[in-house]
Amino acid sequence: MQERLKELQQEALNQINAAESLKELQEIKVSYLGKKGPITEVLRGMGKLSEEERPVMGQLANDVRAAIADKLEEKVARLEELEVEKKLANESIDVTLPGRPAQTGGMHPLTSVVETIEDIFVGLGFEVAEGPEVETDYYNFEALNLPKDHPARDMQDSFYITDDILLRTHTSPVQARTMEKFKGQGPVKIICPGKVFRRDDDDATHSHQFMQVEGLYIDENVRMSDLKGVLLEFAKKFFGPNQKIRLRPSFFPFTEPSVEVDISCVICNGEGCRICKETGWIEVLGAGMVHPRVLEMGGFDPKKYSGFAFGMGVERLAMLKYGIDDIRHFYLNDKRFIEQFKRA
Ligand code: PHE
Repeated sequence: MQERLKELQQEALNQINAAESLKELQEIKVSYLGKKGPITEVLRGMGKLSEEERPVMGQLANDVRAAIADKLEEKVARLEELEVEKKLANESIDVTLPGRPAQTGGMHPLTSVVETIEDIFVGLGFEVAEGPEVETDYYNFEALNLPKDHPARDMQDSFYITDDILLRTHTSPVQARTMEKFKGQGPVKIICPGKVFRRDDDDATHSHQFMQVEGLYIDENVRMSDLKGVLLEFAKKFFGPNQKIRLRPSFFPFTEPSVEVDISCVICNGEGCRICKETGWIEVLGAGMVHPRVLEMGGFDPKKYSGFAFGMGVERLAMLKYGIDDIRHFYLNDKRFIEQFKRA
């Protein structure tokens, strides 16, 4: 009987050693330690033993059971550990693999060009002002020396909302509003970027909505040469140190004298090409000395103060800077176009 128990123990331990899965171990446990197992079977024969032998055999049987149970437990733990290790190995992350790029947004090219322009003028001592896009006839026209029925109103075909309210056709109304705010006290030195609207048919160079940056400088003794100096400095900072500018006489009701300002062609450096129509020059903005009537209407004494003003088209500047050939690209929101300017 003793022999038989020892044999069973050895057999069980061998099987446990050889087992490769938790399922196998479970089966071994049931077959050796279960009620119908061989150890129970052996113990049933204990009735035939003498009184002295019985407790010895009982003890031995318990020891065998315990040895098998301990071994089982140990092996289960080992297999579970291996399982975890295997899982970890499968799930290991290769940190050297290139990542999947996340889609990121970027600045719209017009926004970044406006910021560039702002930075340049802030560097020249200007402050940034803002005004409403829905404007009154008074600020958009009358306060700028464009009374009703003035023929120059035709220069800017307008979107009227009522007889008296319209979408601003230029950023110049911010001049009038800013002058009112300063109550006749100079200096005033602002730029105003913003959207403007005109009844144009959209094509490669026209858009019914576009952006301008207005500039206004009022102080004692502001002269045309100051205007020229500021604009030349701007052109050099925006396009490069070799830029030249040229002023041509023009007309605006709110400035006298008025000029149109050309920059030397950024494509051919002034030699003459298709873009500058072989002239070497490209028109980029309107400007002039603030008309005395406009100063007066804005509350400034034209005997004491003088000033200059300018208004530039942002799309045009951006198109020249980046070689864009159609203004409509700015407003179609085609990602292939927009994404090229993420770092512009
Ligand atoms: N407001 C003018 C335009 O839109 C530009 C301009 C601004 C001209 C200031 C002179 C002075 O055409």
